[in-house]
Amino acid sequence: MLHTDNPTTTDAWKKLEDHFAQLKDQHLRDLFKADPQRFEKFSFEVDGTLYDFSKNRITEETLDLLIQLAEETKVPAAIESMLRGERINATEGRAVLHTALRNFTDQELLVEGENVLEEVRDVQRQMKDFCDRLHSGEWTGFTGKKVRHVVNIGIGGSHLGPQMVTEALKKYQKPDIEVHFISNVDGTDAAEVLRKVDPETTLFIIASKTFTTKETIANAHTARSWFLETAKDEAHVSKHFVALSTNTEAVSKFGIAPENTFRFWDWVGGRFSLWSAIGLSVACALGYDRFEELLRGAEAMDKHLKNTLMRQNIPVLMALLSIWYTNFFEAQSHAVLPYDQYLRLLPEYLQQLQMESNGKTAMRNGEFVNFQTQPVIWGAAGTNGQHSFFQLIHQGTVLIPSDFLAPVNSHNPIGEHHPMLLSNFFAQTEALMKGKTEEEVRAELEKKGMAGEELEQLVSHKVFEGNKPSTSIMFDLLTPHALGSLIAMYEHKTFVQGVIWNLYSFDQWGVELGKQLAGTIEEEILGNKEAEHDSSTAGLIGYYIQKRK
Ligand code: F6P
Repeated sequence: MLHTDNPTTTDAWKKLEDHFAQLKDQHLRDLFKADPQRFEKFSFEVDGTLYDFSKNRITEETLDLLIQLAEETKVPAAIESMLRGERINATEGRAVLHTALRNFTDQELLVEGENVLEEVRDVQRQMKDFCDRLHSGEWTGFTGKKVRHVVNIGIGGSHLGPQMVTEALKKYQKPDIEVHFISNVDGTDAAEVLRKVDPETTLFIIASKTFTTKETIANAHTARSWFLETAKDEAHVSKHFVALSTNTEAVSKFGIAPENTFRFWDWVGGRFSLWSAIGLSVACALGYDRFEELLRGAEAMDKHLKNTLMRQNIPVLMALLSIWYTNFFEAQSHAVLPYDQYLRLLPEYLQQLQMESNGKTAMRNGEFVNFQTQPVIWGAAGTNGQHSFFQLIHQGTVLIPSDFLAPVNSHNPIGEHHPMLLSNFFAQTEALMKGKTEEEVRAELEKKGMAGEELEQLVSHKVFEGNKPSTSIMFDLLTPHALGSLIAMYEHKTFVQGVIWNLYSFDQWGVELGKQLAGTIEEEILGNKEAEHDSSTAGLIGYYIQKRK
């Protein structure tokens, strides 16, 4: 069971407030000077990935108090409840078992008397068999040609994970298959993908947990009509369309046969579904064995979460640090900065994972929070971000904690590119931490021969306050295993954070209102219904109806 108390009423929270009052003016530069062992004390290597927390505004006492907070909010019990398959997604009456999808142990995992691991393995065998047939050329299109293009049609969790992973692991891509993604209901998305593919050699994967998501169903119908313009005969659809869903009834109504349907279960949340059949596009792109390596990387992180003391537990520490900055420093956003071009879609993926999970105001006891919850997640690949928004992180008025991620080795070791890239990674985290004092600026300008008013005018513009916290994450090489472990780490961070904030992290009621209103407005625009709106919305709809061609 999960606790239902307001975390601000715990002893730890009060102690953290007092501790914050003492620590808030201490500079990281001084903390490093005072303790030469700071890196050793605050960095951990797990499964080949180094997590360095030492450039965070913490001391050992901060960590002690944060761990006390995790204990008082019963984080260890919550982890057990999740892994055991309890119905911790109470507002939807569901268990939360994405970890079962990457559980390779030979134990049973019973949910309502059924061993869910057996069902998981059945679908995994189906996926493997499908991928093998696709890659060997045994599975052909309606004219007997081998499949060259796979198009994943899905949105949210049925899109962001597969797209991010496919991009991140491009180096492992099978040479003769190209994977594309259609997600947006904007016809441009479908049009631009369909322009690149050929109906004879294209396989469409319709990925939707519910199979009721309007965007996905609209795109699926568009793809089918486009395909039938060439194929003519409905009988050919079975060679070109497969579905990934929990709603097998709706899939068959759409016209996809049971043997072409890869199922999963309501205990897999949309934004945690990458490891289920929703990962089929990844397996098509890389081969099933690589997909399994991704799952095994995630399994290693699950074991770490389960078996490691909180003081060394990476997802727990990541969650606690985020709470430290959000609730005590009042930071409102968090930057994710991958120094690996292959990870350029990671910030977007983490936006859904964290903001859809914990962007909430109602606590588990039904009361509303009196503290901040999820900060905005954003970011971009280094070094591009440095030439865009880093100015604000360095010298702006808001505190933005960040995660820097980089591989020790590059998949593309061209010339000196990788040392150059990593020099920037190290330099940025150092500059954010250290800053540049007025004294240092003056000395620098004087050395350049500047003096008097000319110098005075420049000083304040060149001062960097520093003391900007960052966590550095370094993995050896971006392999499927390393990526699986990293994604699972962020999943568990999200869960732990929600546990402490007393939120239900696995529902997403906040997306419903917009969906409902869009349904009514669509009917109105098509002339089937009339509806009442405020003057702005009515004015905008009227403007659109009047001007559209
Ligand atoms: O945006 C809401 C949401 O339900 C997400 O949580 C989910 O990932 C996405 O829509 C897609 O849902 P489905 O896989 O059911 O089409």
